Amino acid sequence: MSQPSHLIPVIPFSSAVMDRGQGSYVFDTNGKRYLDLTSGQFCTVLGHCNAEVQAQIREKTARLVHTSTSVVSGEVVDCARQLHQISQDMEASSIILSTGAEVVEFCLRYAKSMQGKAGVLCFDKGYHGLTLGAQSVTFAGRYARPVVAEVLSVPAPTAQWTAEEISASLEAIDQVMEADNDLAAFLVEPIVSVGGMIFPPASWFQAVRELCDKHKVLLVLDECQTGFGRTGDWFAYQTYGFVPDMVATAKGIGLGYPVAVALFRGALIKRSSSLLTHYSSHQNDPFGAAVVNTGIDYIRRHDVLVEVREKGPRVLGALERLTQVNPHLVSARGLGLMLGVDLFYEGVTDYRPIYHQVSDMMLERGVLLQGTDGGHTLRFLPDYLIDVAAVEDSFFVLDEVCRALSSV
Ligand SMILES: Cc1ncc(COP(=O)(O)O)c(C=O)c1O
Repeated sequence: MSQPSHLIPVIPFSSAVMDRGQGSYVFDTNGKRYLDLTSGQFCTVLGHCNAEVQAQIREKTARLVHTSTSVVSGEVVDCARQLHQISQDMEASSIILSTGAEVVEFCLRYAKSMQGKAGVLCFDKGYHGLTLGAQSVTFAGRYARPVVAEVLSVPAPTAQWTAEEISASLEAIDQVMEADNDLAAFLVEPIVSVGGMIFPPASWFQAVRELCDKHKVLLVLDECQTGFGRTGDWFAYQTYGFVPDMVATAKGIGLGYPVAVALFRGALIKRSSSLLTHYSSHQNDPFGAAVVNTGIDYIRRHDVLVEVREKGPRVLGALERLTQVNPHLVSARGLGLMLGVDLFYEGVTDYRPIYHQVSDMMLERGVLLQGTDGGHTLRFLPDYLIDVAAVEDSFFVLDEVCRALSSV
């Protein structure tokens, strides 16, 4: 299909036009079925159009969808209570907003004002969204636009995280924090996704927590991809075993609806004496709360976190087996249901053309996947209810596609 003529051409749109979704599959207007290995844009974590989820959201939103910013609903109060519970040691207070970029900006705005400082430290491969504020702390991807005056960066280690890289990384962070008295926050993804599916070891995060305490810098986690069960815990910081000061989470927590949440550590809220004035038309909407409450209920009732913990290693095992037999797929890695593997073709330095061929051929064969890091890395973030056998079948297809491209 040619590009749809009345959509702003922000991205090369897929050739398939989608019509409906069910569970881990979407169907195009010709009735062709696709296995969705990316749960949309990593959002439909309980599957597409999950009937139980939709019925509960419909029932809740039939009562109330929206209120003015200063009016709270019972649904919102209940949501804040549930988020406080699942934030565990963070003992968080929360606000419901709409998108990942919006919650990242919310966190940074208050990190700066609470600290009375302007600087933000990031990884040089981080991705935090594309509104102007979020874009100014985004280093990875083609639209990156780090603002250098107040935004500092340290190099992200490679996907291998060697012992030398870990200590060099901690030393670099320590040095920047030591040298800059105006640093309000360190903003970092628990798994650097757009930057190349880089999974830090827990010990690195625990050491970063100590450095932030030592230098009185707030640790702000961008859990837009990793939050709400992706790693087998409610939040990735629980998997790693430390407590952040702020969490920006989106995508999965919205179950496919535009809902995002910022969490502030309870102790931080207690320390702050003034009101954190904020106005956004959809903040703390009963609609967003209905979605989040429905998600929490569903995950609890169906033991979904246990399911993610059980499926993650099985999918990683299948990916590892693939790398053992296919020379074009290397470095399988993953945590929970967030996985990556690198493409490898002798002599290739720009992986974009080859990645586009891989994804087009996979689409043709009925599988949706996504690349990152300039097409060098394939990433898999399926819904949590996906059938592992279906993923394994799709890896056989990936095997064939990557072999077919071996002559490029
Ligand atoms: C880690 C991370 N942070 C922030 C964002 C921005 O989220 P949104 O696109 O909902 O604004 C994204 C989106 O991909 C993301 O992956």
